[in-house]
Amino acid sequence: MSGLAFLYRAGRLYAEGVSVERLAEIYGTPLYVYSRREIGARYRALARAMAPVRPLICYSVKANSNLAVLGALREEGAGFDIVSGGELYRVRRAGADPARVVFAGVGKTEEEIDYALREGILFFTVESEPEARRISARAVALGCRARVAFRVNPGVNPRTHRYITTGQRENKFGLDPDRALAAYEMAAQLPNIEIAGLHMHIGSQILSPRPYVQALARAAVLCAQLRRRHAAFEWLDIGGGMGIDYMPDQEPLAPRVFAAAVLPWLKKIGLRVILEPGRSLVGPAGLLVCRVQYVKDSYRKKFVIADAGMNDLIRPALYEAHHEVWPVRRTARRIRGDLVGPICESGDFIALDRELPAVREGDLLAVMNAGAYGFSMASNYNSRRRPAEVMVDGACHRLIRARESWADLVRGEDAGARHENRRKEQPDHV
Ligand code: LLP
Repeated sequence: MSGLAFLYRAGRLYAEGVSVERLAEIYGTPLYVYSRREIGARYRALARAMAPVRPLICYSVKANSNLAVLGALREEGAGFDIVSGGELYRVRRAGADPARVVFAGVGKTEEEIDYALREGILFFTVESEPEARRISARAVALGCRARVAFRVNPGVNPRTHRYITTGQRENKFGLDPDRALAAYEMAAQLPNIEIAGLHMHIGSQILSPRPYVQALARAAVLCAQLRRRHAAFEWLDIGGGMGIDYMPDQEPLAPRVFAAAVLPWLKKIGLRVILEPGRSLVGPAGLLVCRVQYVKDSYRKKFVIADAGMNDLIRPALYEAHHEVWPVRRTARRIRGDLVGPICESGDFIALDRELPAVREGDLLAVMNAGAYGFSMASNYNSRRRPAEVMVDGACHRLIRARESWADLVRGEDAGARHENRRKEQPDHV
């Protein structure tokens, strides 16, 4: 794994200057641990590589939306890419400047649009014609102007897991280029709408710069046409998706490699550039520590049962994603088996048929590259409390989200009974 956040010292795994064992003792398990320095280093590496076009880097909040993570990226100078009213609320709580926030997503509600208009975000990434009409109507109602960029689906194959492609013809995102051109013409006639730019995001965990170049080649033609027609057209948002090395033999899509491929196109197109990286900024900056509860054999197979499951980290179950598993106390001895969680589902695994550190009951394991789409996709399935999160910075560590309590699990459920606001619906025919 790239980065220097998580290393062994004298056989013990450290997060920067703090032993992971110590963190597990203090905060309990399962526990997400993030490295502040790694997040900063990753942001700066991308900003440096892309400096010739001075991009606005809008961190994609969905990857990890903890307020402390958002705050760290704001300190580094990031703007934010959001996809819901909830994410807007979070970035505002983290002190974000709304003028550095872009809002994507295919299903924005009126309530979310109003919230974003009142806050004065940079622009909406618009994914359909009816959405443009709704944004215009809300801007008229609120007496303000709305900046929009249509999301164009360039129809390229990013060669990633089929659930996380977004710019192929069959994906629900954006509009095909011909339709997008017509949509821009339509939107330009709508009241209180300003055409601000064009947006693309072709997928996630992309390891080659090639699909970006293909998409940019298509965008270049469109942008040339659009800027001639629309005076306020100034932004080209090329999305996120840069892949990381989940497997030991994988090459991540390094900022230098990405920049070398896309910069010539971006310079030629000559618009102001937005990037929306999520995973590549926070994925390798986080791990999930879990404690082994039991080790058992069945039908000549070994199962290591941990206290973290698919409700804490769903990527293996959902995408058959690979996460390296490291022992918190180094050992050379290996066993072969499945690392599974306590959830009542056969899909509840972290690693399948893998060489694992030889562990015993009570030992700690670290699931690597868990900083992105880890906690943010966690759930309460099986009425499990979502885990705690900790931020390490040098020798300091702090709890950035408390482990949920059992009372948290039922929050809101008994509200009706308590407030006696139970409603009795009248049948229609009465
Ligand atoms: N911009 C837009 C419009 C997006 O839809 C996404 C991710 C990003 C930026 C950030 O992409 P990133 O740089 O993180 O690849 N849950 C999946 C990933 C889903 C990504 C959805 N969109 C996973 O765990 O692999």
